[in-house]
Amino acid sequence: MSSTHLTPAKPDAVAPLMRGITVLRRLTEAGGTSSLSGLEKTTGLARSTVDRIAATLARMGYVRLDGRDAVLAPRLMELGNAYLAALRLPRLLDGRADALADELDESVSLAVRDRDGIRFIHQATRRRAMSLSFRIGDPLPAERTAPGPLFATEWTPEDWARWRERRSADPEDRGFPAVPPREHPVGDEEFEKRTREAGAQGWALDDQLIEPGLVALSMPVREHGGRIACVVSVVSHTSRHTADSLRDTLLPRLRATVRAMERDLREAPDRPPAAPAGLATWTGASKQELGREFIESLARGLTVITAFGEGRAELTLTEVAQATGLARATARRALITLEHLGYVAAHGRAFTLTPRVLALGFPPLSRTTLPQIAAPHLAELADRLHDSASLAVLTGDEIQYTARVATSRIMSVNITVGTRLPAYATSLGRVMLADLAPAERHLPELRALTPHTVTDPALLAATLDRVREAGYALVDGELEEGLRSIAVPVRDRTGRVVAAVNVAMHSSRRTVAQCVGEVLPELRETVGRIEADLRVAGRFTRVPVA
Ligand code: PHB
Repeated sequence: MSSTHLTPAKPDAVAPLMRGITVLRRLTEAGGTSSLSGLEKTTGLARSTVDRIAATLARMGYVRLDGRDAVLAPRLMELGNAYLAALRLPRLLDGRADALADELDESVSLAVRDRDGIRFIHQATRRRAMSLSFRIGDPLPAERTAPGPLFATEWTPEDWARWRERRSADPEDRGFPAVPPREHPVGDEEFEKRTREAGAQGWALDDQLIEPGLVALSMPVREHGGRIACVVSVVSHTSRHTADSLRDTLLPRLRATVRAMERDLREAPDRPPAAPAGLATWTGASKQELGREFIESLARGLTVITAFGEGRAELTLTEVAQATGLARATARRALITLEHLGYVAAHGRAFTLTPRVLALGFPPLSRTTLPQIAAPHLAELADRLHDSASLAVLTGDEIQYTARVATSRIMSVNITVGTRLPAYATSLGRVMLADLAPAERHLPELRALTPHTVTDPALLAATLDRVREAGYALVDGELEEGLRSIAVPVRDRTGRVVAAVNVAMHSSRRTVAQCVGEVLPELRETVGRIEADLRVAGRFTRVPVA
């Protein structure tokens, strides 16, 4: 949408915060990765400025520097999470949207109004090859969607004026990179007519307004007072439905879901305000420790966003200052800057976050997988220990490698991503089997792969009990002679084991005692970092484990 660095500065606005946000926006639009010289071009900032901003964001854990590239890091999602938590709608409604998608076997999404556009806050996507699918945080022009005319029934004359202005300034929708550029101009009357119809009917259709083949049917979910909280859409393809058949066959079921959602909103108890979830880790450190490259005013400004959350949707300046530990004058200037850029709205003395906060990294990061989260942490671990580190998941009675950083080849078979091995004879497999109830452990016939392999089922069960107790597994020469490996489980936010990480080495490199004394603490620290990222990334999205 509008390019933030061209917005004229406002007295009292914090220039470094504006520039930092510009860098985050350009990185988001680039899909999450850009070279530093590329950022210099797309932001128009001096290279030394880009470098200092990137260093600051890296110190906050919001980007990762990978050679010459800056890469958005999962922790950045704590900004969008603050908005989604404050909004409450995802926590209250995602489950119903997912259930409708399962029932219909079609994609279902939730969108909120974002000025004269819409922005997705949830996507229950069916895997289909036919059409593009949108991500949480993607903005779309209202007039090319089914939710748009529903939201427009609540527009003020100023909203309509802003919409016309945007359309004449950007007739091809270039400001909305998630949609293909518009090829044929369509007059304003068309959307005005669709908005009148939407108001009369209570639903709206998208008959291939975004791209050929894509059809959608939408209905508003209203708050107690009658205002639209969000819009639910069922999205299909002309190979399965025309727009009209979508309405004729699915409207009753969509309507039933909307009724249930409105009941959920009415009946949801107010939760006591949670403590601010993600106050940045840098805040305790001294400027000296953080270094000359660290731009404190940028870090402070972004921290203001994390003061919001569940039960903390509307905060006064005093409350923001209290939550962040910032001086009032500092918090005030950050809020003014964020309001000027459209990330915060002021209502009298209270401030709220706007959906635009999702433009700070959410669309690309909402597609992050566990192997992508783990990869940089595995690389660091392998680098520190000079041994191979891997991530794997359990599939039936086998483990499957999903990420790996190899330092040297120690096994006779070459292990790559995708390699499967018997779970019972590997450290990775044992920590994952140990988390299952005995009846859920699918074990094949236990074959001796070396003279040391545990093949007695009772002995293996006792071993798994010990592994569960200890929180790690060490396997010594049972899969292959001379191979020693140690693994710990990776747990999601609910505590369930979803994967495992190991370090493997030739048995001549370290004794068993050294493995436990030296490698295990490092391994645990690495898994702690992976789990912390997974908690942030998995708060409002489902993170695929493979
Ligand atoms: C979507 O969720 O992908 C979607 C929703 C409404 C539209 C188009 C796409 O009009």
